[in-house]
Amino acid sequence: MSGPKLPVAVIGIGRMGQSHALNFAYAVPRAELVAVCDPRESALDRARKELPPNVQGFLDVKECFAKSGAKAVLIATETASHAPLAKLAMESGLHVLLEKPISIDVETSKEVVKVAEAHPELKTMVAFVRRFDESTRELKRMIDDGEMGEVHLLKSASNDPYDPSGFFVNFSGTSGGIFTDVGVHDIDVARWLLDVANGCPNPAKQVHRVFAIGQSVRHPELKEMGDADNGMGIVEFTNGTVFMCHMSRTQMNGHECWAELFGTEKKVVINGNPQLNKLEIRDKYGVRTESTATHYLRYKDAFVRELQDFTACVLDNKPLPVSLRDALEASKIATAFTLSYHKGVPVFFDDQGEVTLD
Ligand SMILES: NC(=O)c1ccc[n+]([C@@H]2O[C@H](COP(=O)([O-])OP(=O)(O)OC[C@H]3O[C@@H](n4cnc5c(N)ncnc54)[C@H](O)[C@@H]3O)[C@@H](O)[C@H]2O)c1
Repeated sequence: MSGPKLPVAVIGIGRMGQSHALNFAYAVPRAELVAVCDPRESALDRARKELPPNVQGFLDVKECFAKSGAKAVLIATETASHAPLAKLAMESGLHVLLEKPISIDVETSKEVVKVAEAHPELKTMVAFVRRFDESTRELKRMIDDGEMGEVHLLKSASNDPYDPSGFFVNFSGTSGGIFTDVGVHDIDVARWLLDVANGCPNPAKQVHRVFAIGQSVRHPELKEMGDADNGMGIVEFTNGTVFMCHMSRTQMNGHECWAELFGTEKKVVINGNPQLNKLEIRDKYGVRTESTATHYLRYKDAFVRELQDFTACVLDNKPLPVSLRDALEASKIATAFTLSYHKGVPVFFDDQGEVTLD
């Protein structure tokens, strides 16, 4: 493709970072992956084996920001380190695509929003991959074109495959827990499809109340850590719409995530059967389909579109499809879920749109 390319560096070359780096290197024609950065030498070595030979490797993020030539960075480190790295990147004059969520707590997330708002010349976006999913986008079009009638309820689930190694238990302290780590995806889609900023009497207060419960069916130790391996939540928005969700780390057939949107004219289901492909296997067990094994596979195309769209927004100076304010509002609801689960009570939002227990 002709025209200038956006030089990009990926910070944090773990599971998600390597997948993004490969997409930037081979599937985003308007970007050039110039560097990857990770303090673990072994991660850099492994990553660079699969990447083009000209991609530089950095162990130190400051050196990467200063010397790599990148104009934009994708931050895919553990969630607890997102905020300081995002702030440093913006203060170094770099556009930022930040893996979800902004941070593990609302106050830190607000600091990131503040720095981004002080740098309007930079594009900063949280990578909510489902916003780039073809089916979710088509459903949003149907809503906007009035085909659903009045939309009033979204039920959704993000059920991750059970990992017997208990990896997510070790991950709990830096991920923000199941409501934040998994739930923000569903919450962001709910806020988008239910158009919660519209039709609320006080625009600052989009949420009326939130309630959540949790279970630790496979890993009871999670409960002691304030986390859970299954979380269920309900949100009543002030525009009259309702969102119900189930997050899980114990699904046995692979990764299942579905959404059911109820309107006065139609109900639409996304991914009701998490089919890997169009095969139906007929054998002694009956008629079966295979499931997508992971979240990465379910959103394979959306992960590429997310990078392509971000790159185009930066190069063409276009508005971003997801605002940092949206990401902050999603984090507030995730935090309210966690608080409700810990306290066993509903959590209300005040007139400023902040979580309150009064
Ligand atoms: N959008 C999605 O669907 C999705 C899916 C999975 C994970 N994620 C997000 O991606 C992020 C990373 O998750 P993961 O599972 O890939 O984690 P991971 O532990 O596999 O990788 C994190 C990497 O960051 C590196 N790192 C830590 N501090 C660093 C620093 N200061 N500079 C550079 N690198 C540093 C670590 O060494 C590690 O290699 C998390 O925030 C998670 O929420 C998003």
